[in-house]
Amino acid sequence: MNATQEQLKLKVEQALVAAFGTELSGTDPMLVPASNPKFGDYQANLSLPLSKKLGKQPRIIAQQIVDKLDVSDICEAPEIAGPGFINLRLKTDYIEAQLNAIQADTRLGVAKVKHPQREIVDFSSPNIAKEMHVGHLRSTIIGDSIARILEFIGHDVLRLNHVGDWGTQFGMLITYLREVSPDALTTANALEIADLVEFYKQAKKRFDEDDNFKETARQEVVRLQSGAEDTLHAWKLLCAQSREEFQEIYDLLDVKLCERGESFYNPLLADVVKDLEKSGLLEESDRAKVVFLDGFTNKEGQPLPLIIQKSDGGYNYATTDLAAIRYRTQQDEAKRIIYLTDAGQSGHFAGVFQVARRAGWIPDDVEVVHVGFGMVLGEDGKRLRTRAGDTVRLRDLLDEAVMRSRADLDMRLQESGREETDEFKANVAQVVGISAVKYADLSQNRMTDYKFSFDKMLSLKGNTAPYMLYSYARTQSIAREGNIDFQQLGDVKIQLQADSEFTLAKHLLQLDEVITEVEQELLPHRLCEYLYQLSDKFNKFYENCPVLKSEATVRTSRLALCYLTARTLKLGLNLLGIQVLERM
Ligand code: ARG
Repeated sequence: MNATQEQLKLKVEQALVAAFGTELSGTDPMLVPASNPKFGDYQANLSLPLSKKLGKQPRIIAQQIVDKLDVSDICEAPEIAGPGFINLRLKTDYIEAQLNAIQADTRLGVAKVKHPQREIVDFSSPNIAKEMHVGHLRSTIIGDSIARILEFIGHDVLRLNHVGDWGTQFGMLITYLREVSPDALTTANALEIADLVEFYKQAKKRFDEDDNFKETARQEVVRLQSGAEDTLHAWKLLCAQSREEFQEIYDLLDVKLCERGESFYNPLLADVVKDLEKSGLLEESDRAKVVFLDGFTNKEGQPLPLIIQKSDGGYNYATTDLAAIRYRTQQDEAKRIIYLTDAGQSGHFAGVFQVARRAGWIPDDVEVVHVGFGMVLGEDGKRLRTRAGDTVRLRDLLDEAVMRSRADLDMRLQESGREETDEFKANVAQVVGISAVKYADLSQNRMTDYKFSFDKMLSLKGNTAPYMLYSYARTQSIAREGNIDFQQLGDVKIQLQADSEFTLAKHLLQLDEVITEVEQELLPHRLCEYLYQLSDKFNKFYENCPVLKSEATVRTSRLALCYLTARTLKLGLNLLGIQVLERM
């Protein structure tokens, strides 16, 4: 709800009490945005449900409320419609004043939160020596956007990369490399990362088939955990190599992360077990140490355990996450912790959150949220794969997006006979290609699976990055055409005349509301939807209202509207991690 709606709601509530007495205070005025612009901007629907209680016809109730309602500073005279709706239309003066206020504000009317707090976004989090796949890409893109929004509204955000850099996988890999490529354990970058991934697969195979290998690998994990120098050195080399590979992707995507992998929590795991033991939560089951979960049962109706320490003494993914929560609430003093992984991990997080809560590691004023998302599918509707059936390398995927956007650009330039420098072309292709991938991901409700289609995401039409970037570039081309420096416009008084101007103006005033909503519900696609409609409303305005050809004051006012649209698009896209282009 925005400030205007809030004010109107209060006023209707007051009018209701003035008309019918204090016993009705606290009644919801049911004030909502009008279902149709024909009826104005807002409607209060409270008269109908009150009819029975007050024993009066809804229209009469509505009239009695309206008689006491003073909204003259915000709205035209209220109208009663249909069976008793109260319709409210914002005054032009009021809209103009609001516009002028956000125009003068570098934050475009988006206030900072009153109580900034430490918030952690745990995102991306690929695994060392394993492939970083499209699921990690989704986590990276959505997590970055959420982090940007939280930062913008003033929270103190810790962007944590919980990389899988510890555990049995290293025992296997190191044991295998000792056999086939000992160099890789002593020399930096002796292997290509792709080879590493391949070796990992072979190591896993050996581990599953060969008991001797399995035993040696186990011992290698113990050596690693007890800090044996050669093993530790090999581990560091492997991590460094993967890290370089991940960093390339983060650079391409312009995403900043602070690496704090699973290994960071290793020294804290024993304490987790001790604490759980002290609090009486820990039990033994099949020689493993477990906590039985409330409300989780298996098919036979038996309570499900969360395994904390395996019978061989090793720890689990969940144990590390428990240590992480404990550290994040106690040391980092986080008030909200947001985890981004595919929806498949929701059971894992539900279990971990429950145990952490019962252990007292999540105080009442701390919120933990698992932000799950659906799968990335190929155009065939199945899990995204290469033609050969392999997992798609992220680097290849991003490169292809850029390559295709370059081909589109070259074709457009050729058709229009426009000449541009190589530098210009390379930059446009890069920004459009990367933005297209990001936007395709962000514009979907994250809970649903989505189909990865280069053709769709690179299209200039529809809810796509190119369309959005194009709308922004259009605002800039108006300035160029009129030889105008938007920044020099100064304090223009925006005056609204045409319908499409009103529509655009009212939409521009809603940014604050949308951002608040995204901040609370953690659904970035709402911001995409807002920007998409903004582009649409701007393009309609531009088709209907001459800007440069208008007379003096109208011209200036419309230019100011273009500039405000440009700033809103730029800010909104930036919060999605998308850079704008002045020309494209
Ligand atoms: N490394 C994990 C994976 O690839 C994701 C980690 C998510 N974060 C966490 N705290 N568990 O599935």
